[in-house]
Amino acid sequence: MNRVIRFPKRYTMKIQFQYFFIFSFVFITSFSFAQTDVDAKVERLLSTMTLEEKVGQMTQLTLDKIIDTKNEPAIDKAKIHDILVEHHVGSILNVTSHAYTPKEWQTLITGIQDVATKETRLKIPVLYGIDAIHGVTYTLGSTLFPQNIAMAATRNPELAFKCGEVTAKEVRASGIRWNFAPVLDLARQPLWARFGETYGEDVYLDGIMGEGIIKGMQGSSVANPTSVAACMKHFIGYSFPFSGKDRTPSYIPEIMLREYFLPPFKKAVDAGAKTIMINSAEINGLPMHANKYLLTDVLRNELGFTGVVVSDWEDIIRLYTRHKIASTPKEAVRIAINAGIDMSMTPYDLNFCTYLVELVKEGQVSEARINEAVKRILKLKYELGLFDNPYPEPAAAKNFGLPEYRKLALEAAHEAITLAKNENKILPLSKGKKVLVTGPGANSITCLNGSWSYTWQGIRPEFFPKDARSILAAIKSKNGDANVSYAEGSGFDKEINIAKAVEAAKAVDYIVLCLGEEAYAETPGDIDELDLPIVQQNLATALYATGKPVILVFTEGRPRVFRNIEPGAKGVVLAYLPGIEGGTAIADVLFGDYNPDGKLPFTYPRFAGDIKFYDHKLSEALNEYWPWSVDTLAYNPQYAFGHGLSYTSFEYSNLRLNTKTLTSNEKLKVFVDVKNTGQKSGKITVELYTHDFYASITPSVRRLRKFKKIYLEAGKQQTVEFEISKDDLSFVGNDLKTITEAGDFEVIVENLKAGFTYK
Ligand code: BGC
Repeated sequence: MNRVIRFPKRYTMKIQFQYFFIFSFVFITSFSFAQTDVDAKVERLLSTMTLEEKVGQMTQLTLDKIIDTKNEPAIDKAKIHDILVEHHVGSILNVTSHAYTPKEWQTLITGIQDVATKETRLKIPVLYGIDAIHGVTYTLGSTLFPQNIAMAATRNPELAFKCGEVTAKEVRASGIRWNFAPVLDLARQPLWARFGETYGEDVYLDGIMGEGIIKGMQGSSVANPTSVAACMKHFIGYSFPFSGKDRTPSYIPEIMLREYFLPPFKKAVDAGAKTIMINSAEINGLPMHANKYLLTDVLRNELGFTGVVVSDWEDIIRLYTRHKIASTPKEAVRIAINAGIDMSMTPYDLNFCTYLVELVKEGQVSEARINEAVKRILKLKYELGLFDNPYPEPAAAKNFGLPEYRKLALEAAHEAITLAKNENKILPLSKGKKVLVTGPGANSITCLNGSWSYTWQGIRPEFFPKDARSILAAIKSKNGDANVSYAEGSGFDKEINIAKAVEAAKAVDYIVLCLGEEAYAETPGDIDELDLPIVQQNLATALYATGKPVILVFTEGRPRVFRNIEPGAKGVVLAYLPGIEGGTAIADVLFGDYNPDGKLPFTYPRFAGDIKFYDHKLSEALNEYWPWSVDTLAYNPQYAFGHGLSYTSFEYSNLRLNTKTLTSNEKLKVFVDVKNTGQKSGKITVELYTHDFYASITPSVRRLRKFKKIYLEAGKQQTVEFEISKDDLSFVGNDLKTITEAGDFEVIVENLKAGFTYK
C-alpha cells in the first residue's frame, strides 16, 4: 500500500530543511567514510608490498607484450606470467593494431584478470587503459562521435556530457575502465596534427566542453558499470609546438601558460578528473616529463590534483634517447619519478622496473615517493571497483551499440556542422535536382572520422560498421540514386581524373565538392604547409569553369588554407571530423533537413603566414602607417572564431546591464533580446565577450566569457541572460597571480556593446 504522510503546510518548509540537512549529513559522512575506508585498504595493502611489487604497479605495458602474435587476441601464457607474476606489472594498454569485438575484449580482459587475481601473490587486479577519443576507438561496432574540434563547434556542453556518458558505457562494456581522454590542449598552432582532437582555440570553451565530457564519463561514481576514469591530457603546452610538428619544442612564457593553457586543466581537476597524462614534448627547453615545478608544485600543490599522473608513450626513456637531458636510461627514470610521474607507459621496456628498484635502494628516489605514487594507483583501482570484481560486468556489457547512441552521434554531428558561406542562399539545395558529388572526401568514411577510429590512424575502412555512410551515400539516399552522379576527380594529395569530373558536371544542376584531409593521427599527420593541397584546388578551379554552382564541403582536422578557391564557391560547409553519422548530417544540412547552427571554434586563417587568434591584442590589428587607426586587414581571417550561418536570420537588440558598476562580491547581469527574424526555426549560440579597456598586462580585444545555445521558432524572440563576476574579468598579472583590476570594461554580444566599471 502506498502511504502518503501529509504535514500541515506551515511545517513543510521546516521539515524539508531538516530532511535536507539530515540527507546532506548522511551523504557527506558516508562519502568521507567510504573514502577513509578506501584509504585504509590502500594503506593495508601497501604495507604488505615489496619494493618490486610497488614498482610493478607503477609500470604500464602495451598489449603486444602479452599477446600470442600468431593467434591475436589470444594471450601468450608464458609472456603474461613473466609480466604479471614475475614483474608485478599493474597496468596494460592499447591494442596491437586494430579494434576487437566486444566479445574478444571481454575474453582478453578475463584472461588478464585471471592471472592477476589468481596467480600473483597479492592478487591485485590489472588496470587496463585505452584511447576512446571520440567515442570508442578500439571496439568494433562502437559509436564514433564527432572529434572534439567538431564538438566545440556545437557550443553544447550538454552534448559533450552525453557523448561522454555513452563513450564510458561502451568502453566499460568492453571490460575496460580507464579512458585516455579528453584532450584539453588548446588549439593555437593550426599545423599541429592533433588540432582536431582539441576543443579549439578558446580557453573558456575548451574548459567547459572538457568539464562536460569528464562528468559524463565519470558519472556519479566510477565504480558504476556505466562509468570510466577519465584522463585529461596532455599536461601541458603540447599543442603549441613552435615548428608545428608533433612532439617538438614549444616556448611558452609562464604568464601565457597560466593565462591560456592551464585553466582548462584547472577546470578538469575541479570536475574530478581521476587521472592526467603528460605532454611528450618540451617547454622552454625542459621536457614536461622532467618538469617538477609544473608536475608537482603547480599540478599538485596549486591545482590540488590528487589522482594518478601517467606518462605518455615511452616518454621517460625518451628523456635519454630523444631529449638528451639524461645521460643514461636510469637517470631518465630518476628524473621523471622525482618530478612527479606516478605511472610509466614504458610501454615495451621492463628495465624501468629494474632501474627504479635500484634507484630506491641507492637512495636516489625515496621510498616515500614510490609509496605516494602506488597509493594513488591502488586507490584508483579500488574506486573503479576492480578489487570487488575485476572482470567484464554483464551489467556493463549490455550497454554496447544501442541504437540511441547513433542518434546522439547524429545530433552531435548536426550541431557541429558550420555553414560558412551561402551566396544568394544557394543552400539548402532543392531535392530532386541533379547533383554531382565529387572530390576526395565524397566517397570516404575514414575522412569523416579522422584519427582513433578502429585503428590508430583511422585509415582502414574495413573495420567501420557496414552501415556507416559516406557523404555520397547519404546524398544518394536523400536525393535519389538517379539524381546523383559521382566522379572522384582528385585524391587528397594526388590527381586522379579531373577531366572526368568536369565532364560529369555538365549534366548536373549543382556540384558538391568534398575537400579536406584523409585521416591521420599524431606524427604521421605532420605537414609542411597549411595550404589545401594544390591538386584539390585545381579540381575546384576546373569545376568552377563549368559555370555550375559549386558547394565546398570540408572534412578536415585543421584549417587548410583555401583563399584562392573560396571566392568561386557559392556555398561552404565546414564539417570538421563529424564522426560516424557525419555523412548523413552533411546531407541533412545540404538539403535543408537540418538548419545549421555550428560555430567555428577557431580562427580559420586566410594565409598560412597570418596566424592570429580572435582574442589577439590591439597592437596586432593596428596599422603602423595610419596612426591610431585599426586596420581591418590586419585581422583578416578567412572566417572568424564564432562564425557560422543559419538558414534563418537572428537579430540581437536591447543589450542591457543591471548595473553600471560592478564591485568585488556582486554579479553583473547582462540581458539581450534575440529574435528569429527568418522563416525557419533554428538554434543559435549567443556568445558574450568582454573587453578590458586598460590593464597592466595588455588586454585582448575581446575574450569569450559565457555562451548559451537557444532554440527559436521563426518569428519568436527570447531574452537571454548572463551573469558576469569579477573572476570572469581576471587575467594573469606580471607577478603570475590572477587579478581583476579596477577600471572600465564593456560586454560585447554580436554587434552590441555596453559599458560598465569594475570598482
Ligand atoms: C598519445 C596519447 C595516447 C597514448 C596511448 C600516445 O602516442 O600521445 O595521446 O593516449 O599514445 O595510446
